[in-house]
Amino acid sequence: MSYEKKAMSLMNKYPAISDLRKKAHQRIPLVAKEYMETGTDDDDTLNQNRIALKKIKFKPRFLKGSLAPSIETNLFGKKYDFPFGIAPIGLTGLMWPNIEIILAKAAKTYNLPFCLSTLATETPERVGPHMGNNGWFQLYTPKEKHLAYKLLERAKNSGFHTLVITIDIPIPSRRQRTKRAGLQTPPKITPNFIWQGITHPQWALATLKRGLPSLRTIAEHSEFKDMMSVEKFVAKQMGGNLSWDYVVDLKNQWDGPVLLKGIMHEADAIKAVELGFDGIFVSNHGGRQFDGALSPIEVLPKIVEAVGGKTTICFDSGVRSGLDILRALSLGADMVFLGRAFLYGVSALGKYGAAHTIQILNGELQNAMINLGIESLEEIRALEKIISD
Ligand SMILES: Cc1cc2nc3c(=O)[nH]c(=O)nc-3n(C[C@H](O)[C@H](O)[C@H](O)COP(=O)(O)O)c2cc1C
Repeated sequence: MSYEKKAMSLMNKYPAISDLRKKAHQRIPLVAKEYMETGTDDDDTLNQNRIALKKIKFKPRFLKGSLAPSIETNLFGKKYDFPFGIAPIGLTGLMWPNIEIILAKAAKTYNLPFCLSTLATETPERVGPHMGNNGWFQLYTPKEKHLAYKLLERAKNSGFHTLVITIDIPIPSRRQRTKRAGLQTPPKITPNFIWQGITHPQWALATLKRGLPSLRTIAEHSEFKDMMSVEKFVAKQMGGNLSWDYVVDLKNQWDGPVLLKGIMHEADAIKAVELGFDGIFVSNHGGRQFDGALSPIEVLPKIVEAVGGKTTICFDSGVRSGLDILRALSLGADMVFLGRAFLYGVSALGKYGAAHTIQILNGELQNAMINLGIESLEEIRALEKIISD
């Protein structure tokens, strides 16, 4: 059975992202689950991301005959088959070994964007051959510019064409849940870690095969050697170095589209346009960074209005279904990204997980469009939106 057919055959067992989440929670150790699921502080922003999306409702129209939704999306001169993509994730292999390769292969098969994180557990060089022409690279900006340049050069040489600079981590996040769960990178072999392995045998076997997860991209630079945990890297390399001058300098180093990820204020969106950035990610990092932030779906309309079509708008945070994707598109996003949904998919189903996640989202998106009596992305944008209480 082909890889795509096998993924599809799982549809009755795992028909929604919530089913994948449940299965993922059974298959991975507590520390991985907490790292994946955490928001920060009281998780208010994390939860609000879902609540705010669910408030957006529509009025269906009927009697339109047979509808065939078309969801191809053009971005920066490239055609993608879907208006959604895979968000960058750090310490990825903690959730499932080799996950970046699984995600990259699915992105190539289904022709959607796949964004690799600076803090991924597989390198751009190893992932590059698997992703086709679908690779975006996400940069966390090291304090020393020459290190940033080196990372960009490696990404470019590995075939990544679109650069995403994450700007919403001015200080390490508090993320108390990961502390309580005892997260360490690379993991230390403690009695608890061994017990977690025994009680999650598929994860343990796959991890033994690939080796303990570590930040393999930055590990190749001796300057980063003493900061092999996400927290240490962010604390030592990123605290206080983010500025408009810096990101403009990086933009000038890259010959391809450059986007800023983490824009939440219309004034920053306008500035990004003025400075010539090709796009922005309206995102609150999946609620992982600051627990007093609005959710991106709440700020999206104002940002869309402020930039007036002058830049490409990507959106993420809280998206768990095709209907959520439609909600974000309806408010003006050009491309919608998902982080945890893809982690659930691969943690639950291994090599079939990314394909299955895409199939669920595609099915739900097309279903939502037909229920609304529409068949194009333009019609999604023109939908009347009602924000319910
Ligand atoms: C486990 C995890 C790790 C993440 N690591 C990164 C990262 O390395 N770089 C980055 O820009 N964003 C990172 N993010 C944020 C995602 O790119 C994205 O903004 C977020 O997951 C979207 O919210 P969602 O998970 O609700 O879809 C991470 C998110 C998660 C869940």
